[in-house]
Amino acid sequence: MNITPRRTFYACAVFFQIENKAHLCYHFGIVSELSDIKNHIIIKTKGGFNMSELIKSDYSALSFNPFDKIGKQWMLITAGNESGLNTMTASWGGMGVLWNKNVVYIFVRPQRHTLGFIDNSDYFSLSFFSEEYKKALLLCGTKSGKDCDKVKETGLTPAFDENAPYFKEAETVLICKKLYRQQLSPDSVVDERVFKEYNDDYHFVFVGEITEVLQR
Ligand SMILES: Cc1cc2nc3c(=O)[nH]c(=O)nc-3n(C[C@H](O)[C@H](O)[C@H](O)COP(=O)(O)O)c2cc1C
Repeated sequence: MNITPRRTFYACAVFFQIENKAHLCYHFGIVSELSDIKNHIIIKTKGGFNMSELIKSDYSALSFNPFDKIGKQWMLITAGNESGLNTMTASWGGMGVLWNKNVVYIFVRPQRHTLGFIDNSDYFSLSFFSEEYKKALLLCGTKSGKDCDKVKETGLTPAFDENAPYFKEAETVLICKKLYRQQLSPDSVVDERVFKEYNDDYHFVFVGEITEVLQR
């Protein structure tokens, strides 16, 4: 006698929260005996959906080491509007006080596609992300908006402040009003070591006044 084993489809999903992130554990499969299930239990976790929204904050609520935040964690410089934006990764920059204003300094090489967007806007934004977005930042730092759609390729979600675009997945966003733009000049270099960073493509420095702080 030919007995066809009864097959059962099963699926289970559990949502849980760790700190501010929602995680989804799920598993599904087909078993012919219940005892098979234990051989199937390889939980797949899809995780890290941010549960909290970015909310307007104040510069006094910022607490980080700027050397790590910019130099190691990196940031996205974004400019444009709803009809077109571009973003690029940056790890050179600074924050401080100038002309009695809280400011950021960013350094953008002339060949960057983002430069035109910054030049054509009164504002730009700096978006800082948690570690899980490092791959997205690497993509934005190795591909040019001239050749691809970085928003589409990274899956990041642009949001539009009244003054500058930024990304919803960010942990911290600084909206900055341009105050100053100048190209660095070889004539002003005082230490030879600086020259090894250049092939005639001296950065444009932008000083931006921090007009809005968004944080989770
Ligand atoms: C970690 C990292 C840091 C970077 N920092 C800067 C920077 O501070 N200034 C800059 O001009 N380019 C920087 N770049 C390079 C640009 O992000 C890269 O050339 C990017 O593709 C430019 O994109 P765009 O042409 O769409 O503007 C960095 C790249 C990486 C990966």
